[in-house]
Amino acid sequence: MATSPVYPPSPEFVRRAQVQGMEGYRALYEKAAADPEAFWSELAEKELFWFEKWTKPFETDYPFVKWFAGGKINASYNCIDRHLDTHRKNKVAILWEGEPGDQRQISYQELHRLVCRFANVIKARGLKPGDRAIIYMGMVPELPVALLACARLGVIHSVVFGGFSAEALKARIQDLAAQLVITCDGAWRRGKEVRLKDAVDEAVAECPCVRNVIVYRRTGGAIHMQDGRDHWWHALDEGVSEICPAEQLDSEHPLYVLYTSGTTGKPKGIVHTTAGYLLHATVTMKWVFDLRDEDTYWCTADIGWVTGHSYIVYGPLSAGATTMMYEGAPDFPQPDRFWRLIEKYRVNIFYTSPTAIRAFVRQGDQWPNAHDMSSLRLLGSVGEPINPAAWEWYHKTIGNRRCPIVDTWWQTETGAIMIAPMPGAVPLKPGSGTLPMPGVIADIVDLKGRPLPANQEGYLVLRKPWPGVARTLWGDAERYKEQYWARIPGVYMTGDAARRDEDGYYWILGRVDDVMNVSGHRLSTMEIESALVHHPAVAEAAVVGKPHEITGQAIACFVTLKKGDWNHEEVAEELRKWVAHEIGSFAKPEQIRFTDALPKTRSGKIMRRLLREIVTSHAVTGDVTTLEDLSVITRLAAQQDEE
Ligand code: PRX
Repeated sequence: MATSPVYPPSPEFVRRAQVQGMEGYRALYEKAAADPEAFWSELAEKELFWFEKWTKPFETDYPFVKWFAGGKINASYNCIDRHLDTHRKNKVAILWEGEPGDQRQISYQELHRLVCRFANVIKARGLKPGDRAIIYMGMVPELPVALLACARLGVIHSVVFGGFSAEALKARIQDLAAQLVITCDGAWRRGKEVRLKDAVDEAVAECPCVRNVIVYRRTGGAIHMQDGRDHWWHALDEGVSEICPAEQLDSEHPLYVLYTSGTTGKPKGIVHTTAGYLLHATVTMKWVFDLRDEDTYWCTADIGWVTGHSYIVYGPLSAGATTMMYEGAPDFPQPDRFWRLIEKYRVNIFYTSPTAIRAFVRQGDQWPNAHDMSSLRLLGSVGEPINPAAWEWYHKTIGNRRCPIVDTWWQTETGAIMIAPMPGAVPLKPGSGTLPMPGVIADIVDLKGRPLPANQEGYLVLRKPWPGVARTLWGDAERYKEQYWARIPGVYMTGDAARRDEDGYYWILGRVDDVMNVSGHRLSTMEIESALVHHPAVAEAAVVGKPHEITGQAIACFVTLKKGDWNHEEVAEELRKWVAHEIGSFAKPEQIRFTDALPKTRSGKIMRRLLREIVTSHAVTGDVTTLEDLSVITRLAAQQDEE
């Protein structure tokens, strides 16, 4: 195995870091491993505000867990109120820039006012703790305000990314039986309006559970408002009280549900609860981002994904940071928008995705080079493996070789960061997430759960529950058990393949299940297949991820059409639109290939493995002995060569 370069932290960085040197990291890691309950209890007491202290740090009814049972807490209180009698009262909590260039700076005090008012608005609509609200908005400050207002009342929020279609939105509203939808008229993206309220109208038409829709005016576009059901945010906000005490909720009160793709056609509602999640998000904010009070911190994710929940809203605000939000596209009006924002707001910590980095590499160095980014002190990466070449570019061109890069591995289900370097402690190796966080017991195993030696590829598993772990799937505890904890009893299956090198560093290789990662967005092959077979022209479909230079993976579809005289080009275009309609435009397939038959086993199962080989290496070398008709594969491979 070729040895990779190693980048130790500079003495200067170490000197001011929260966790200093490998001794600092090891001391924390060993303390957590030796007595996790004492470790997390101490942190819970130090890092969070409790109305009432818990009685037990940890309880399990395997695989279900409770952290800090008996405690009373509120996430909104922890993110706002507790800062108000400190020096942070007038500190900027949310620093925002809209795509058209408008700006807002919201202090912790002002955020408190906005959140209390909106919580009173929601309360007046009759929502109670445990009720569900869907949030489908663009990246405006009212989006975190809506999350925090729900959290204040114990209303369970579920944010649906604004790129999802009306169909996908409807499925999520129905699964949660949500009573309230909070949305915007529209959002700005590349100078165009994304018409969010239109999608809500389409979705809600088939959701009798929804009593109220609250609309924040962002774009000013003409929309339909249904009497009795739809209300303008600003109208309901008028004259509302600014006093709204935070509900004293159980530690295990659900904070939010976030849908993500699994290995079937139906997305999973990942349930996160309050205290453990918040603690995990707060401590990793400090350990991994080495946060200082004076920092301007910017995570470029959308709040529609878990990264935005944990590292734009809950982690940073709980830690008292200034968290920056940008509404629009990275390349609008020009490819240097991000660099312009870093220069303008003197950003110190910048957290983005490998897909974005690869797109920047392609646009050329002239864009970042035109800006003064000397304020940057730390860079981060999340969502997919970062290839060493992109890492090196990020390090040199953006970080001027001064800034450590924290490559953070985690999942919607883990709640917060699990494997990542503490930047003042752990030497970096480009492409590796390095070492597990304290309290995270990771391992690389075979299918029987036996640990594998260094540098052997295997399944990445987590051996002990941690505070931020998803507690269940909404309405489907059985699926939770079976998907994560049943394959190897007692062990959490991440679904990722990885290896651990001779220094104990983790290298993530990608998913081993039918989940794709396109631009850091998780999509299931089954979800796209079931969208495709819904189309009247389609008889059968098989979907696989295809390597892609910028987005990591792209969606490749193999489709068999029903009998008829089809114009393949037209049908392909129609199917692309169809998938965008069923799921969202970010799920549009890159490649649609028509075939008379799909490769199947004699028992009729589609052999996606072979299709994956065809799109990856244009040839099939794997075992084909179970294939029913070998000629199907020969034809498909030949077709791929022609493209
Ligand atoms: O395959 C891993 C990949 O993204 C998956 C989780 O996706 P999601 O739940 O959408 O959460 C994304 C944001 C946390 C993982 O199973 N992944 C995430 N981060 C990394 C990664 N792969 C390699 N390196 C990472 N840093």
